[in-house]
Amino acid sequence: MNSRRKKPPPVSVMDARKWYQLTMFEGVDAPIEEGIVAYNNLLRELSPEYGGISRTEFECVLRQTSEVLVFMFSGRKLLGTAQASLCFPGCQPTIWISRVVVTEQYRGCGLGRRLMEETEELIKERFAKYRPLAVMLMSRDERGTESFYRGFGYDKRETNRYQKKL
Ligand SMILES: CC(C)(COP(=O)(O)OP(=O)(O)OC[C@H]1O[C@@H](n2cnc3c(N)ncnc32)[C@H](O)[C@@H]1OP(=O)(O)O)[C@@H](O)C(=O)NCCC(=O)NCCS
Repeated sequence: MNSRRKKPPPVSVMDARKWYQLTMFEGVDAPIEEGIVAYNNLLRELSPEYGGISRTEFECVLRQTSEVLVFMFSGRKLLGTAQASLCFPGCQPTIWISRVVVTEQYRGCGLGRRLMEETEELIKERFAKYRPLAVMLMSRDERGTESFYRGFGYDKRETNRYQKKL
């Protein structure tokens, strides 16, 4: 892959909770609604069938102490997102990283790296009392992201995944 082919725009990466609080503090509602629409669109870049979340659902996620939703902005434009979720399989604190996306237009210029690095920093900050933490993520082979994740020190484990909806 020909990385760094474009100069990345200046970005800020933050916990979506902080973005939400700062935006609410300004007393204007439109950027929150726009942010949720942009988030839904980003997740559709990952899975076109993604149904999207409502504002109520979004606010519910932000209230969960086990969740860190990460937003990467350039100005007010949402360019990327990732999510970190704390769970306790075998009663051991474990983080699942999921929904890592950089919007297509800005891929290959270092923003994915920045997003992952800052997500790990936010995980260390939020879940400091549980460290050392096992951090896991799953990515389908066809996404071609193996070297991306290996580049951050994630080892690939063979696993058979079973799934159903309840
Ligand atoms: C995966 C994704 C987040 C990477 O973001 P990005 O901004 O393109 O990545 P970067 O430009 O920061 O690249 C970081 C490193 O990973 C490598 N890399 C990135 N995407 C890669 C890919 N698809 N295949 C191989 N290497 C890749 C780059 O070469 C770069 O290496 P370097 O830092 O040593 O030069 C982005 O391509 C994306 O959103 N893809 C679609 C959604 C997706 O599949 N997400 C993963 C779901 S689990």
